[in-house]
Amino acid sequence: MSINIPRGTQDILPGVVEEWQYVEQKMREMCKRYNYSEIRTPIFEQTELFQRGVGETTDIVQKEMYTFEDRGGRSMTLRPEGTAPTVRSFVENKMYGSPNQPTKLFYIGPMFRYERPQAGRWRQFIQFGVEALGSSDPAIDAEVIALAMDIYRELGLKRLKLVINSLGDIESRKAHREALMNHFKPRIGEFCGDCQNRLEKNPMRILDCKKDRDHELIKSAPSILDYLNDESRVFFEKVKTYLTDIGIEFQVDPNLVRGLDYYNHTAFEIMSDAEGFGAITTLMGGGRYNGLVEEIGGPATPGIGFALSIERLLLALKAENISLPIAQELDCYLIALGDQAKDKATSLLYELRKAGFTAEKDYQDRKLKAQFKTADRLNVKFVAVLGEDELVKNVINIKDMSTGTQEEVGISNFIEYLLERS
Ligand code: HAM
Repeated sequence: MSINIPRGTQDILPGVVEEWQYVEQKMREMCKRYNYSEIRTPIFEQTELFQRGVGETTDIVQKEMYTFEDRGGRSMTLRPEGTAPTVRSFVENKMYGSPNQPTKLFYIGPMFRYERPQAGRWRQFIQFGVEALGSSDPAIDAEVIALAMDIYRELGLKRLKLVINSLGDIESRKAHREALMNHFKPRIGEFCGDCQNRLEKNPMRILDCKKDRDHELIKSAPSILDYLNDESRVFFEKVKTYLTDIGIEFQVDPNLVRGLDYYNHTAFEIMSDAEGFGAITTLMGGGRYNGLVEEIGGPATPGIGFALSIERLLLALKAENISLPIAQELDCYLIALGDQAKDKATSLLYELRKAGFTAEKDYQDRKLKAQFKTADRLNVKFVAVLGEDELVKNVINIKDMSTGTQEEVGISNFIEYLLERS
């Protein structure tokens, strides 16, 4: 029986991995510009972190986690997202004690969710995310959203739609929750089993149900925006003003509730409306989570962040026909003909690389013509040929592949010659 890659995962092969490296590089550059530093946390954590952090009633915790018992009998889970681990690390490393607040962090790494695979939905995917901990200034909400928009725009995406909402503070949420329960309770029998469970535990999630999204009661449900207390309303107004001030367009959607439990105040998603992007239109999601640090055992600390997957980003680039400027080239390909030349080529190749050139030689004993073909495929700038004749004369024949010109150069001047021309 053959062994295949697990469902919902992918190999990222040479030729494509360069696209991943390119976008990851852009993300790192942009984080530097916005003063976010990288954090790397483990790929698995204690299961309890996600049960408490992401929330018991969420789809992630109820049906999507890769949970296993380790050999010591402890329940561990492959991380389904990066916020709870980042907050765990923030608390454990007492980052709240640092004089540099807010603590601004970013991560790039694999996340795992046992979901039904489809375009843009994988069981292992790479999330890039940022988290700003320690500030309840609405300006940081705008900053985090601007950072995400800047990354997408920098890569050339145009068909972007930013949707925002406010989920309010605890008091606003409580009032809204009651209104939702009264709204749905009399006819909850018309909803799916998941929604029936959500009624008592987290009725807001009914608004996010994929099965019942066209039900008339969802469209007529009380809006959280009508239940925001003064403080929450002022906060949301500020976020909107800051976004407008920096020229970021948005739509307010009172039904945007997000699938994780930790959110309050600002919630947002960026969608792609490019044709061909597919059924899942969400590119990234995030929001404020002012109670999460406390939930995970730290001092009361506000937080906000977002995460996006590189898989969906690359899908959106394809849908908008954007090709990334990835040049695959090699400085020099060394062709050696004859045993003595081959011996010499081994040390010359080493010297080339030591001088900083990207360089390659043949290892398959191919004929001259085949070696030139390989050099062509590798998109090399110079081909250097060392045959028996050249060896006798102590020279090497260098062909500039862009102009087609050839020159014989003394072997001892070989590196210098290339340095002058690069
Ligand atoms: P999330 O909405 O669950 O939020 O995921 C954020 C993003 O991760 C999605 O918008 C999408 O780009 C990507 N994503 C999620 N699931 C998959 C999948 N199965 N395949 C491919 N891509 C996927 C969070 O994870 C929060 N931790 C975001 C956050 C950070 N909130 C505050 N800080």
